[in-house]
Amino acid sequence: MKVDGKHTRTIWLEADGWSVGAIDQTLLPHRFNTLRLATLDDAARAIKTMQVRGAPLIGAAAAYGVCLALRADASDESVARACATLLATRPTAINLKWALDEMTAAVRNQPREARVAAAYRRAAEICDEDVVNCQAIGRHGLKLIEQIAARKPNKPVNVLTHCNAGWLATVDWGTATAPIYMAHDKAHDLGIDIHVWVDETRPRNQGASLTAWELGKHGVKHTIIADNTGGHLMQHGLVDMAIVGADRVTARGDVCNKIGTYLKALAAKDNGVPFYVALPSPSIDFTVSDGIAEIPIEQRGAGEQSTMTGRTADGRIETVQIVPDGSAVANYGFDVTPARLVTGLITERGVIEATRSGLAAAFPERASGAEF
Ligand code: MRU
Repeated sequence: MKVDGKHTRTIWLEADGWSVGAIDQTLLPHRFNTLRLATLDDAARAIKTMQVRGAPLIGAAAAYGVCLALRADASDESVARACATLLATRPTAINLKWALDEMTAAVRNQPREARVAAAYRRAAEICDEDVVNCQAIGRHGLKLIEQIAARKPNKPVNVLTHCNAGWLATVDWGTATAPIYMAHDKAHDLGIDIHVWVDETRPRNQGASLTAWELGKHGVKHTIIADNTGGHLMQHGLVDMAIVGADRVTARGDVCNKIGTYLKALAAKDNGVPFYVALPSPSIDFTVSDGIAEIPIEQRGAGEQSTMTGRTADGRIETVQIVPDGSAVANYGFDVTPARLVTGLITERGVIEATRSGLAAAFPERASGAEF
Protein backbone atom coordinates (compact mmCIF):
# COMPACT_ATOMS: atom_id res chain seq x y z
CA MET A 1 0.00 0.00 0.00
CA LYS A 2 1.06 3.61 -0.17
CA VAL A 3 3.05 5.61 2.37
CA ASP A 4 3.14 9.26 1.39
CA GLY A 5 2.38 8.34 -2.21
CA LYS A 6 5.10 5.66 -2.44
CA HIS A 7 4.17 2.02 -2.82
CA THR A 8 5.66 0.20 0.15
CA ARG A 9 5.76 -3.39 1.38
CA THR A 10 6.51 -4.32 4.98
CA ILE A 11 9.51 -6.47 4.07
CA TRP A 12 11.85 -6.49 1.07
CA LEU A 13 15.23 -7.61 -0.20
CA GLU A 14 17.74 -4.75 -0.08
CA ALA A 15 19.66 -3.57 -3.15
CA ASP A 16 22.69 -5.68 -2.10
CA GLY A 17 20.57 -8.71 -3.01
CA TRP A 18 20.88 -10.49 0.35
CA SER A 19 20.10 -8.35 3.40
CA VAL A 20 16.50 -7.74 4.29
CA GLY A 21 14.69 -4.46 4.88
CA ALA A 22 11.56 -4.06 6.98
CA ILE A 23 9.48 -1.32 8.55
CA ASP A 24 10.22 -0.93 12.28
CA GLN A 25 6.67 -1.18 13.64
CA THR A 26 7.65 -0.36 17.21
CA LEU A 27 8.18 3.29 16.23
CA LEU A 28 4.88 3.87 14.46
CA PRO A 29 2.82 6.01 14.32
CA HIS A 30 5.33 8.64 15.39
CA ARG A 31 8.34 7.66 13.28
CA PHE A 32 8.63 5.78 10.00
CA ASN A 33 12.00 4.00 10.25
CA THR A 34 13.25 0.93 8.48
CA LEU A 35 15.44 -1.92 9.73
CA ARG A 36 18.18 -3.84 7.98
CA LEU A 37 18.35 -7.52 8.92
CA ALA A 38 21.73 -9.11 8.15
CA THR A 39 21.86 -12.19 10.37
CA LEU A 40 19.64 -14.90 11.80
CA ASP A 41 19.81 -13.15 15.17
CA ASP A 42 18.65 -9.87 13.62
CA ALA A 43 15.59 -11.63 12.18
CA ALA A 44 14.81 -13.48 15.42
CA ARG A 45 15.16 -10.28 17.47
CA ALA A 46 12.93 -8.31 15.08
CA ILE A 47 10.16 -10.90 15.45
CA LYS A 48 10.53 -11.28 19.23
CA THR A 49 10.54 -7.55 19.92
CA MET A 50 7.66 -7.05 17.46
CA GLN A 51 9.56 -4.71 15.17
CA VAL A 52 7.88 -6.99 12.64
CA ARG A 53 4.63 -8.58 13.77
CA GLY A 54 1.30 -9.90 12.52
CA ALA A 55 0.99 -13.58 11.62
CA PRO A 56 1.76 -13.50 7.87
CA LEU A 57 4.62 -11.02 8.26
CA ILE A 58 6.15 -13.10 11.07
CA GLY A 59 6.20 -16.02 8.61
CA ALA A 60 7.81 -13.93 5.87
CA ALA A 61 10.46 -12.53 8.24
CA ALA A 62 11.25 -16.02 9.53
CA ALA A 63 11.67 -17.25 5.95
CA TYR A 64 14.29 -14.56 5.34
CA GLY A 65 15.84 -15.41 8.72
CA VAL A 66 16.54 -18.91 7.37
CA CYS A 67 18.14 -17.38 4.26
CA LEU A 68 20.43 -15.23 6.41
CA ALA A 69 21.43 -18.24 8.52
CA LEU A 70 22.23 -20.29 5.42
CA ARG A 71 24.48 -17.56 4.04
CA ALA A 72 26.70 -18.10 7.06
CA ASP A 73 26.44 -21.89 7.13
CA ALA A 74 24.40 -24.03 4.73
CA SER A 75 24.67 -27.30 6.67
CA ASP A 76 21.71 -29.41 7.83
CA GLU A 77 22.57 -28.45 11.41
CA SER A 78 22.40 -24.77 10.50
CA VAL A 79 18.93 -25.19 8.96
CA ALA A 80 17.73 -27.00 12.08
CA ARG A 81 19.30 -24.40 14.39
CA ALA A 82 17.81 -21.50 12.45
CA CYS A 83 14.34 -23.05 12.51
CA ALA A 84 14.56 -23.76 16.25
CA THR A 85 15.75 -20.21 16.98
CA LEU A 86 13.01 -18.61 14.91
CA LEU A 87 10.27 -20.95 16.12
CA ALA A 88 11.06 -19.96 19.71
CA THR A 89 10.43 -16.26 19.07
CA ARG A 90 6.64 -16.27 19.29
CA PRO A 91 4.38 -19.24 20.05
CA THR A 92 0.89 -18.47 18.78
CA ALA A 93 0.84 -17.50 15.09
CA ILE A 94 1.05 -20.74 13.10
CA ASN A 95 2.34 -18.90 10.02
CA LEU A 96 5.76 -18.99 11.68
CA LYS A 97 5.91 -22.78 11.75
CA TRP A 98 4.30 -23.00 8.31
CA ALA A 99 6.98 -20.76 6.79
CA LEU A 100 9.81 -22.65 8.51
CA ASP A 101 8.44 -25.97 7.23
CA GLU A 102 8.26 -24.48 3.73
CA MET A 103 11.85 -23.25 3.95
CA THR A 104 13.10 -26.59 5.25
CA ALA A 105 11.35 -28.40 2.39
CA ALA A 106 12.83 -25.95 -0.14
CA VAL A 107 16.45 -26.58 0.89
CA ARG A 108 16.38 -30.11 2.30
CA ASN A 109 17.21 -32.01 -0.88
CA GLN A 110 19.48 -29.38 -2.37
CA PRO A 111 23.27 -29.69 -2.40
CA ARG A 112 24.84 -27.22 0.02
CA GLU A 113 26.06 -24.87 -2.73
CA ALA A 114 22.50 -24.51 -4.08
CA ARG A 115 20.78 -23.98 -0.74
CA VAL A 116 21.20 -20.25 -0.32
CA ALA A 117 19.70 -19.47 -3.72
CA ALA A 118 16.87 -21.97 -3.16
CA ALA A 119 16.11 -20.39 0.22
CA TYR A 120 15.98 -16.85 -1.14
CA ARG A 121 13.73 -18.06 -3.98
CA ARG A 122 11.25 -19.66 -1.59
CA ALA A 123 11.30 -16.68 0.80
CA ALA A 124 10.48 -14.33 -2.07
CA GLU A 125 7.68 -16.66 -3.17
CA ILE A 126 6.26 -16.75 0.36
CA CYS A 127 6.09 -12.95 0.29
CA ASP A 128 4.53 -12.82 -3.17
CA GLU A 129 2.03 -15.57 -2.33
CA ASP A 130 0.97 -13.60 0.73
CA VAL A 131 0.25 -10.55 -1.42
CA VAL A 132 -1.78 -12.64 -3.88
CA ASN A 133 -3.69 -14.29 -1.01
CA CYS A 134 -4.50 -10.96 0.59
CA GLN A 135 -5.71 -9.53 -2.72
CA ALA A 136 -8.02 -12.53 -3.16
CA ILE A 137 -9.27 -12.10 0.42
CA GLY A 138 -9.94 -8.48 -0.50
CA ARG A 139 -12.01 -9.41 -3.54
CA HIS A 140 -14.10 -11.95 -1.61
CA GLY A 141 -14.58 -9.63 1.36
CA LEU A 142 -15.50 -6.74 -0.90
CA LYS A 143 -18.60 -8.65 -2.03
CA LEU A 144 -19.77 -8.79 1.60
CA ILE A 145 -19.27 -5.05 1.94
CA GLU A 146 -21.13 -4.46 -1.33
CA GLN A 147 -24.09 -6.50 -0.06
CA ILE A 148 -24.30 -4.38 3.07
CA ALA A 149 -23.95 -1.16 1.07
CA ALA A 150 -26.80 -2.25 -1.20
CA ARG A 151 -29.07 -2.62 1.84
CA LYS A 152 -28.38 0.91 3.11
CA PRO A 153 -27.98 3.25 0.14
CA ASN A 154 -26.34 6.63 0.76
CA LYS A 155 -25.28 5.58 4.23
CA PRO A 156 -21.79 4.61 5.39
CA VAL A 157 -20.81 0.98 5.83
CA ASN A 158 -19.29 0.78 9.31
CA VAL A 159 -16.73 -1.99 9.78
CA LEU A 160 -15.24 -2.74 13.18
CA THR A 161 -11.75 -4.24 13.35
CA HIS A 162 -9.49 -5.33 16.17
CA CYS A 163 -5.71 -5.17 16.50
CA ASN A 164 -3.82 -4.71 13.26
CA ALA A 165 -4.70 -7.20 10.56
CA GLY A 166 -3.76 -4.59 8.00
CA TRP A 167 -0.98 -4.42 5.45
CA LEU A 168 1.54 -3.89 8.24
CA ALA A 169 0.69 -7.37 9.55
CA THR A 170 1.20 -8.97 6.16
CA VAL A 171 3.48 -8.23 3.21
CA ASP A 172 0.91 -5.94 1.60
CA TRP A 173 -2.87 -5.26 1.60
CA GLY A 174 -3.58 -6.94 4.92
CA THR A 175 -6.22 -9.57 5.60
CA ALA A 176 -9.06 -7.78 7.43
CA THR A 177 -8.19 -4.53 5.68
CA ALA A 178 -7.92 -5.83 2.11
CA PRO A 179 -11.72 -5.69 1.53
CA ILE A 180 -11.74 -2.26 3.18
CA TYR A 181 -8.98 -0.90 0.93
CA MET A 182 -10.72 -2.32 -2.13
CA ALA A 183 -14.05 -0.79 -1.11
CA HIS A 184 -12.29 2.52 -0.52
CA ASP A 185 -10.36 2.43 -3.81
CA LYS A 186 -13.53 1.63 -5.76
CA ALA A 187 -15.76 3.88 -3.64
CA HIS A 188 -16.54 6.12 -6.54
CA ASP A 189 -17.54 3.29 -8.94
CA LEU A 190 -19.36 1.25 -6.32
CA GLY A 191 -20.91 4.13 -4.40
CA ILE A 192 -19.65 2.73 -1.10
CA ASP A 193 -18.91 5.08 1.76
CA ILE A 194 -16.67 3.01 4.03
CA HIS A 195 -15.83 3.88 7.62
CA VAL A 196 -13.78 1.80 10.06
CA TRP A 197 -14.11 1.60 13.84
CA VAL A 198 -10.57 0.88 15.05
CA ASP A 199 -10.28 -0.87 18.43
CA GLU A 200 -7.24 0.62 20.17
CA THR A 201 -6.17 -2.92 21.23
CA ARG A 202 -4.47 -2.65 24.58
CA PRO A 203 -1.89 -3.35 25.76
CA ARG A 204 0.32 -2.65 22.72
CA ASN A 205 -2.25 -0.53 20.90
CA GLN A 206 -1.78 -2.09 17.49
CA GLY A 207 -5.16 -0.67 16.47
CA ALA A 208 -4.53 2.89 17.62
CA SER A 209 -0.89 2.96 16.52
CA LEU A 210 -0.79 0.81 13.40
CA THR A 211 -4.25 0.28 11.91
CA ALA A 212 -5.17 3.93 12.31
CA TRP A 213 -1.81 4.96 10.82
CA GLU A 214 -2.14 2.80 7.73
CA LEU A 215 -5.80 3.61 7.13
CA GLY A 216 -4.99 7.29 7.48
CA LYS A 217 -2.06 7.06 5.07
CA HIS A 218 -4.38 5.47 2.53
CA GLY A 219 -7.14 8.00 3.11
CA VAL A 220 -9.68 5.59 4.63
CA LYS A 221 -12.17 7.20 7.04
CA HIS A 222 -11.73 5.74 10.51
CA THR A 223 -12.37 6.40 14.19
CA ILE A 224 -10.27 5.01 17.04
CA ILE A 225 -12.31 3.64 19.93
CA ALA A 226 -11.38 2.33 23.36
CA ASP A 227 -11.43 -1.47 23.41
CA ASN A 228 -14.63 -1.62 25.43
CA THR A 229 -16.68 0.52 23.04
CA GLY A 230 -17.63 -2.05 20.40
CA GLY A 231 -20.56 -3.56 22.29
CA HIS A 232 -22.14 -0.16 22.82
CA LEU A 233 -21.76 0.73 19.13
CA MET A 234 -23.32 -2.58 18.12
CA GLN A 235 -26.31 -2.04 20.42
CA HIS A 236 -26.95 1.26 18.65
CA GLY A 237 -26.75 -0.12 15.12
CA LEU A 238 -23.46 1.60 14.41
CA VAL A 239 -21.54 -1.49 13.32
CA ASP A 240 -22.56 -3.25 10.08
CA MET A 241 -19.94 -5.95 10.27
CA ALA A 242 -16.77 -6.90 12.12
CA ILE A 243 -13.73 -8.16 10.24
CA VAL A 244 -10.74 -9.33 12.25
CA GLY A 245 -7.59 -11.28 11.42
CA ALA A 246 -6.30 -14.57 12.80
CA ASP A 247 -3.06 -15.94 14.18
CA ARG A 248 -4.27 -19.51 13.97
CA VAL A 249 -7.51 -21.14 12.85
CA THR A 250 -8.10 -24.74 13.86
CA ALA A 251 -9.41 -27.60 11.72
CA ARG A 252 -12.92 -27.05 13.14
CA GLY A 253 -12.83 -23.28 12.69
CA ASP A 254 -11.93 -21.92 16.13
CA VAL A 255 -10.11 -18.62 15.70
CA CYS A 256 -7.15 -17.48 17.77
CA ASN A 257 -6.48 -13.76 17.41
CA LYS A 258 -5.35 -10.77 19.45
CA ILE A 259 -6.67 -10.64 23.01
CA GLY A 260 -10.14 -9.10 23.09
CA THR A 261 -11.32 -10.61 19.82
CA TYR A 262 -13.52 -13.11 21.69
CA LEU A 263 -15.40 -10.37 23.56
CA LYS A 264 -16.13 -8.59 20.28
CA ALA A 265 -17.45 -11.83 18.79
CA LEU A 266 -19.75 -12.31 21.80
CA ALA A 267 -21.09 -8.78 21.48
CA ALA A 268 -21.56 -9.27 17.73
CA LYS A 269 -23.53 -12.48 18.29
CA ASP A 270 -25.77 -10.80 20.87
CA ASN A 271 -26.51 -7.94 18.50
CA GLY A 272 -26.87 -9.86 15.23
CA VAL A 273 -23.78 -8.21 13.75
CA PRO A 274 -21.94 -10.43 11.21
CA PHE A 275 -18.51 -11.37 12.55
CA TYR A 276 -16.00 -12.31 9.85
CA VAL A 277 -12.43 -13.53 10.15
CA ALA A 278 -10.07 -12.86 7.24
CA LEU A 279 -7.11 -15.19 6.85
CA PRO A 280 -4.78 -16.70 4.30
CA SER A 281 -4.50 -20.50 4.34
CA PRO A 282 -1.05 -20.54 6.03
CA SER A 283 -2.91 -19.35 9.15
CA ILE A 284 -4.86 -22.63 9.30
CA ASP A 285 -3.49 -25.34 11.58
CA PHE A 286 -5.16 -28.59 10.57
CA THR A 287 -3.31 -30.46 13.33
CA VAL A 288 -5.36 -28.86 16.10
CA SER A 289 -9.10 -28.84 16.60
CA ASP A 290 -10.09 -27.36 19.98
CA GLY A 291 -8.53 -23.91 19.93
CA ILE A 292 -9.06 -23.21 23.62
CA ALA A 293 -7.40 -26.43 24.74
CA GLU A 294 -4.72 -26.75 22.12
CA ILE A 295 -3.37 -23.36 21.01
CA PRO A 296 -0.48 -21.96 23.07
CA ILE A 297 -1.30 -18.41 24.14
CA GLU A 298 1.65 -16.05 24.29
CA GLN A 299 2.16 -14.19 27.55
CA ARG A 300 4.38 -11.17 27.17
CA GLY A 301 6.23 -8.93 29.59
CA ALA A 302 4.45 -6.90 32.26
CA GLY A 303 5.93 -3.68 30.88
CA GLU A 304 3.54 -3.71 27.92
CA GLN A 305 0.62 -3.58 30.35
CA SER A 306 2.04 -1.34 33.05
CA THR A 307 3.32 1.42 30.79
CA MET A 308 2.20 3.52 27.84
CA THR A 309 4.47 5.01 25.22
CA GLY A 310 3.59 8.12 23.29
CA ARG A 311 4.68 11.47 21.96
CA THR A 312 4.96 14.40 24.34
CA ALA A 313 3.77 17.87 23.35
CA ASP A 314 7.35 18.85 22.51
CA GLY A 315 7.80 15.85 20.21
CA ARG A 316 9.76 13.45 22.41
CA ILE A 317 8.76 9.77 22.58
CA GLU A 318 8.34 8.81 26.23
CA THR A 319 7.19 5.79 28.16
CA VAL A 320 5.27 6.34 31.38
CA GLN A 321 4.07 3.96 34.09
CA ILE A 322 0.28 3.80 34.47
CA VAL A 323 -0.14 1.30 37.33
CA PRO A 324 0.79 1.43 41.01
CA ASP A 325 4.23 0.21 42.04
CA GLY A 326 4.05 -3.42 43.07
CA SER A 327 0.73 -4.46 41.45
CA ALA A 328 0.81 -7.81 39.69
CA VAL A 329 0.21 -7.67 35.95
CA ALA A 330 -0.86 -10.38 33.49
CA ASN A 331 -0.38 -9.89 29.77
CA TYR A 332 -2.09 -12.54 27.65
CA GLY A 333 -1.50 -11.80 23.98
CA PHE A 334 -4.30 -13.76 22.34
CA ASP A 335 -7.66 -15.41 22.92
CA VAL A 336 -9.77 -17.99 21.12
CA THR A 337 -13.14 -17.28 19.54
CA PRO A 338 -15.12 -20.53 19.18
CA ALA A 339 -16.21 -21.31 15.63
CA ARG A 340 -19.91 -20.97 16.57
CA LEU A 341 -19.43 -17.20 16.96
CA VAL A 342 -17.85 -16.76 13.52
CA THR A 343 -20.17 -15.84 10.65
CA GLY A 344 -17.63 -16.80 8.00
CA LEU A 345 -13.95 -17.13 7.16
CA ILE A 346 -12.80 -14.87 4.34
CA THR A 347 -9.99 -16.82 2.68
CA GLU A 348 -8.18 -16.65 -0.65
CA ARG A 349 -10.56 -19.35 -1.88
CA GLY A 350 -13.72 -17.56 -0.92
CA VAL A 351 -15.91 -16.98 2.13
CA ILE A 352 -16.30 -20.32 3.85
CA GLU A 353 -18.06 -21.71 6.90
CA ALA A 354 -16.05 -21.89 10.11
CA THR A 355 -16.59 -25.62 10.31
CA ARG A 356 -14.48 -28.73 9.86
CA SER A 357 -16.27 -29.57 6.61
CA GLY A 358 -16.06 -25.99 5.32
CA LEU A 359 -12.31 -25.81 5.87
CA ALA A 360 -11.62 -29.33 4.57
CA ALA A 361 -13.66 -28.69 1.40
CA ALA A 362 -11.87 -25.41 0.69
CA PHE A 363 -8.36 -26.68 1.44
CA PRO A 364 -8.44 -30.45 0.83
CA GLU A 365 -4.69 -30.64 0.12
CA ARG A 366 -3.91 -29.17 3.56
CA ALA A 367 -6.63 -31.03 5.48
CA SER A 368 -5.86 -34.50 4.16
CA GLY A 369 -3.20 -36.25 6.16
CA ALA A 370 -3.41 -33.81 9.07
CA GLU A 371 -4.43 -35.32 12.37
CA PHE A 372 -7.82 -34.39 13.72
O1 MRU B 1 0.84 -9.59 18.52
P1 MRU B 1 0.64 -9.21 17.08
O2 MRU B 1 0.64 -7.75 16.85
O3 MRU B 1 1.61 -9.95 16.17
O4 MRU B 1 -0.82 -9.76 16.77
C1 MRU B 1 -1.38 -9.57 15.52
C2 MRU B 1 -2.76 -10.05 15.41
O5 MRU B 1 -3.35 -10.56 16.33
C3 MRU B 1 -3.39 -9.97 14.06
O6 MRU B 1 -4.76 -9.75 14.17
C4 MRU B 1 -3.17 -11.30 13.35
O7 MRU B 1 -1.80 -11.61 13.32
C5 MRU B 1 -3.70 -11.30 11.98
S1 MRU B 1 -2.63 -10.43 10.91
C6 MRU B 1 -3.22 -10.40 9.36
